[in-house]
Amino acid sequence: MSEARKILVTSALPYANGSIHLGHMLEYIQTDMWVRFQKMRGNQCVYVCADDAHGSAIMLRAEHEGITPEQLIDNVHAEHSADFADFLVDFDNFYTTHSEENRELSEEVYKRLKQAGHIATRSVTQYFDPEKGMFLADRFIKGTCPECSTPDQYGDNCEKCGATYHPTQLKDPHSAISGATPVLKDSEHYFFKLPHFESMLTEWTRSGTLQDSVANKLAEWLDSGLQEWDISRDAPYFGFEIPGAPGKYFYVWLDAPIGYMASFKNLCARRPELDFDEFWNKNSQAELYHFIGKDIINFHALFWPAMLEGAGFRKPTAVNVHGYLTVNGAKMSKSRGTFIKARTYLDHLNPEYLRYYYASKLGRGVEDLDLNLEDFIQKVNSDLVGKVVNIASRTAGFIQKGNAGKLVAEIPNPELWDKFQTATPSIAKAFETRDFARAMRETMALADAANAWIADQAPWAMNKVEGQQAQVQAVCSQAINLFKQLIILLKPVLPKLAADAEQFLNVSALDWNDLGVYLGEHQLNPFTPLLTRIDPKNIEAMIESSKEDLLEMENATNTETNNSNGELDKEPLAKEIDFNTFAAVDLRIALIEKANFVEGADKLLQLTLDLGGVKRNVFSGIKSAYPDPSVLEGRLTLYVANLAARKMKFGTSEGMVLAAGPGGKEIYLLSPDAGARPGQRVM
Ligand code: MSP
Ligand code: ZN
Repeated sequence: MSEARKILVTSALPYANGSIHLGHMLEYIQTDMWVRFQKMRGNQCVYVCADDAHGSAIMLRAEHEGITPEQLIDNVHAEHSADFADFLVDFDNFYTTHSEENRELSEEVYKRLKQAGHIATRSVTQYFDPEKGMFLADRFIKGTCPECSTPDQYGDNCEKCGATYHPTQLKDPHSAISGATPVLKDSEHYFFKLPHFESMLTEWTRSGTLQDSVANKLAEWLDSGLQEWDISRDAPYFGFEIPGAPGKYFYVWLDAPIGYMASFKNLCARRPELDFDEFWNKNSQAELYHFIGKDIINFHALFWPAMLEGAGFRKPTAVNVHGYLTVNGAKMSKSRGTFIKARTYLDHLNPEYLRYYYASKLGRGVEDLDLNLEDFIQKVNSDLVGKVVNIASRTAGFIQKGNAGKLVAEIPNPELWDKFQTATPSIAKAFETRDFARAMRETMALADAANAWIADQAPWAMNKVEGQQAQVQAVCSQAINLFKQLIILLKPVLPKLAADAEQFLNVSALDWNDLGVYLGEHQLNPFTPLLTRIDPKNIEAMIESSKEDLLEMENATNTETNNSNGELDKEPLAKEIDFNTFAAVDLRIALIEKANFVEGADKLLQLTLDLGGVKRNVFSGIKSAYPDPSVLEGRLTLYVANLAARKMKFGTSEGMVLAAGPGGKEIYLLSPDAGARPGQRVM
């Protein structure tokens, strides 16, 4: 045996201003499976991550919610931690970039870069929001496309015609934060001199550190020449102030990857066997892997290795890039209910189903991965329940009844046992090279072979024949041993199933070496069902819940105008519209005739509206504010009558009633003065 490897692994740090969704989970599940495999192999493997807690988006969202950024990132950290734990993603440390360790390390990296002459300063002219008193990142500037004149486009590209431009080229620019017209203003910025690292990067990106297609993409960027990278932002900003530069902050992408180091450093403080320098010094023999999505390649394969090199630290062994998740062949969509939050999935389905499905489709490449929900049901039910668990469930009973749950040592089909033994190195190699799809394919081929043999032996038939009981015990004992092999091979993907199987098998935690063990005369525990089939109803319910998440969000964002203190809310005024646009909204007085709970919906009420004879059916996400819906019956409210209908599981929602408030208990249905009559058009 070669010596145990020392391996540090990271997943990209999720932004602390939003929920984890199934697209994110692709990355964390992929990384977790690889890490679990390494640990089962006996390597010293450490998996760290953190919330990416800095930047203007987080500052603005906290402001919008009326809390401090620290409160926001604490709340989100708790939410993210629970999501990851429940998906069985087993970080050694899930930390935050807003930490003392990260501040110190970021300052250290910066000082070393500065010392070595890799930092420049110069004045930059940028749009500034005079009302809000802050410089505007491109995505906070909107205006009319200079190419095709489509209004309401973001600061650097047009969604309509695809043009890219500089924000100063936008016609009619305005701040997406306050609505004010931005002015041009100068400010001193700090730059990292990336071109100093051109030859190092040309070599590094070609030295087996990256998948070929990623290296090719980078070669294009390298060929067209590297630019200095702007690493400072002006106050107000939520982040770390740059040493010696009051009012200037590190751009979030400067301290985010350093967050990998900081999370590890924080872990070292409670795990004495881990030595920070051993993993990060320039000549470190430890391996370092980053798992990321294809959208953040430049940060990890250009800026980050250059920063590490410039500051005298080691560089990554490899950066492993994956593609994007699509659902049913399309980009995740809020209105179709396929923008699925991690928590919404967990409310309806077993996390291991998704772990297995991702594994079965994840190769080494950067192609997008499709979660086809039909295929998902089919694959999980047929492979996990129909093939793997079935081996134990159809044989355990005979051992229980015929031999008091004790296996026998005889191996009736040694060729089949050998076939499993011969197959495992290839499966190990597939895991090692992140070809999970191949690992799953080859594992399922073994499961097929086991099932075919069991069907052929038919212990259920043999058991009825006098004198064949010994053979029944031998066959079923080997079947349980084959099941044990499959469980080991699947354990990186299905840790919970493996734990339950270990309990049934009455063995301590299985690792890769246990593939060499045949359980001879060995006492089992009683078999209990390990996994149930996916019921398509649960998928439907998850999709409907995702649509409800959307209705709830609409309530929280579209109707907020005042906060509870009676002051005008910080919510900025939207862009001005002309009268015709306004008049296109058919706003009516509606009488709420009936208000009911919706069976199977957590957040919705069903309203029957009377518009002076015409009846309308509306589902509204206001249940949290009206736990007793009957109080709404007989009330008048305002109703958008010509909003496109939305199909839901419970029926079709026609139009929308208007309410105000931040959400939760605080949602207030709007009421007209007495005298208004149902069906009257407003204005
Ligand atoms: N905060 C940065 C990463 C900083 S790392 C020093 C960030 N955060 S993110 O929350 O937007 O994304 C986290 C990871 O999830 C990224 O690797 C990203 O590529 C991945 N994914 C986000 N949406 C995804 C899909 N729809 N599909 C697959 N992966 C996706 O980027
Ligand atoms: Zn355009």
